[in-house]
Amino acid sequence: MKQYSLTGQTAIITGASRGIGKVIAHLFATEGAQTVICSRSTDRIETAAAEINGMVDEGPGNVYPIECDVTDESDVRALVDGTLDELDGIDILVNNAGGSFGEDGRVHTVDTTTWEKSLGVNLTGPYLCSREVIPPMAADGGGSIVHVSTANALTGIGASAYSAAKAGLYALSRLIAVHYGPHDIRSNVISLGTIMTKQRQERMNNPPTETHQELLNEYPLGRFGWPEEVADTVLFLASSHSSFVTGVEFPVDGGLTAGLSQEFHRPVSNVEETPQR
Ligand SMILES: NC(=O)c1ccc[n+]([C@@H]2O[C@H](COP(=O)([O-])OP(=O)(O)OC[C@H]3O[C@@H](n4cnc5c(N)ncnc54)[C@H](OP(=O)(O)O)[C@@H]3O)[C@@H](O)[C@H]2O)c1
Repeated sequence: MKQYSLTGQTAIITGASRGIGKVIAHLFATEGAQTVICSRSTDRIETAAAEINGMVDEGPGNVYPIECDVTDESDVRALVDGTLDELDGIDILVNNAGGSFGEDGRVHTVDTTTWEKSLGVNLTGPYLCSREVIPPMAADGGGSIVHVSTANALTGIGASAYSAAKAGLYALSRLIAVHYGPHDIRSNVISLGTIMTKQRQERMNNPPTETHQELLNEYPLGRFGWPEEVADTVLFLASSHSSFVTGVEFPVDGGLTAGLSQEFHRPVSNVEETPQR
């Protein structure tokens, strides 16, 4: 029988009713994991679970939907209790739920409500989920936690509250790596560049703007990323293929944060020239 990379593993993925989380959930199920997925809406998460289970059909893994707002302490506790009731322990947590809010701008224009909302879903949520998952994970011999951040948090770009909240994940993750490494719990962050989820494609192409092209020009690989490319990286960090990797920040950004602006690199480093031996 084929051994899948997550055979026998159980996982929780937050924010999986659409976008990147849903694609990660599909890959996890395909790779044999039993996975609980959550979002704030029962309808949306049940629909996503039915779609994923339909796609993997008689496959090795399954997904189980649970409604949970990751900013709500009692919801998160119920998510973890529900997972432990349904599945055999928790080996993997993917703190994916997150996002920015329209009112989030420069520091002097962000209001406190937006600031708190952003910290809530992007930092407090991952903290609550990690806090509730760590004890059962440790009791069960360890596991892997992956936090989804943004390339914005590595640099001075993007919306203030969103970038600040996502940057907090680096400290949270390193602390988990250090405090719970002795219990075989690993913790890593991925920092995403622009990822073309269906929603984002609709937003960006409707209509395409000059800023869109300017942003694209900043990517050394000359394109934005796909949710499947993020899912592959999460699979690596969740699985035993990365068993000696913990406490790291892993950019999945097409080289966006690797150097200075492409406008600078292109003429100075002659990057358009095809390399010859
Ligand atoms: N796409 C990008 O270009 C990009 C770039 C950098 C970083 N990221 C990060 O990658 C992650 C996924 O992004 P995405 O583009 O896939 O976002 P998305 O399409 O907006 O999906 C976000 C998911 O999170 C859920 N969610 C939102 N708030 C929640 C809450 N309080 N509790 C539980 N679930 C919640 C949403 O479901 P409900 O609405 O049903 O609750 C949805 O399933 C986010 O953390 C985002 O910050 C994305």
